[in-house]
Amino acid sequence: MSDEYVLGIESSCDETSAAILKNGSEILSNIVSTQIATHVLYGGVMPEIASRLHLENIGYVLDQCFQKAGIKPEELSAVAVTGKPGLIGALHVGVLSAKTIAAFYDKPIIDVHHLAGHIYANEFCGEFKFPLLAVVVSGGNSELVLMKKHLDFEIVGETLDDAIGESLDKVARALGLPYPGGVAIDKLTKDQQIVPLRLPHVHVKGYNLSYSGIKSALVREINEKKDQGLLTPELVKQYAFSVEKAFVDQLLDKAFKAAEEYNVRQIVMGGGVSANSYLRKEITSRGEGKFEILIPPLWCTTDNAAMIAKAGYRMWKEGMVSTLSFAPEASAELGR
Ligand code: KG4
Repeated sequence: MSDEYVLGIESSCDETSAAILKNGSEILSNIVSTQIATHVLYGGVMPEIASRLHLENIGYVLDQCFQKAGIKPEELSAVAVTGKPGLIGALHVGVLSAKTIAAFYDKPIIDVHHLAGHIYANEFCGEFKFPLLAVVVSGGNSELVLMKKHLDFEIVGETLDDAIGESLDKVARALGLPYPGGVAIDKLTKDQQIVPLRLPHVHVKGYNLSYSGIKSALVREINEKKDQGLLTPELVKQYAFSVEKAFVDQLLDKAFKAAEEYNVRQIVMGGGVSANSYLRKEITSRGEGKFEILIPPLWCTTDNAAMIAKAGYRMWKEGMVSTLSFAPEASAELGR
């Protein structure tokens, strides 16, 4: 059997990325150009700037990707691209590039859901065992996804308001920490003994989650402390750890309850927030002796095209190929 090469392209938010995967597992190249240094100036991702930077970077990123892999476009088996969800202008850049390559070289194109990519990132460090529960936590998503087989996604719980990542970012911003706030909170609290503040317990039905109540209450309280000149560096640390712990505890309480009810064999995790040290430690210790826990390698928690190629490879094998007329979508539920 001849070798199979899948090109992955990712441009849904603030990373421009292209990767080539050999036979569905070997990463020949995974080029990631991040825009964080630009967006940090604004305290968050500026969509219009993101689109323009993707446009500037995509040619260079694709060039590097093919060069590093030592593969010519003619040799590709398929082209996989993040088609949804994300910043619409940003998505267009990746999708148009993918369509151009697919059309010119007559290759099948695969429209990959960004969160499927985050889930399949776990397959770079282990095999899926079904049924499994995927905990997907990023800047824009917080979802508990039940998978009974490959590419079969059932959302059993999700945030009813804000996502965990954006909520962390907003509290961090009030604390005067740099963007991305989740990363700054992690850095500030990692491996430290910090006594958390008592925060209200959030009651949400079923396996759904809610972050905006705690976020808004904390931002208000922090701003008041700032106005009174009472926000000391020690208090900043304490707020940072308290919010991180409250958000993660809520997430994992729900995730482990769902895992028990659905009798899963494995819990996997994905998305930017899955890089969080406290979350990684907690999920591992809570799972001990109960569930096998699969955590993506740190390099694969941030947006990258290798994970898109990974999910895309699986879709291609299942015949889930799109036509060149598909359009990117800013919002789209996983599995629909
Ligand atoms: O998946 P991602 O890169 O982008 C999308 O939202 O698609 O996730 C970005 C989010 C940001 O909110 C960022 O603050 C958060 O992930 N994040 C973290 C950590 N690294 C990234 N949050 C907590 N701890 C981290 N180590």
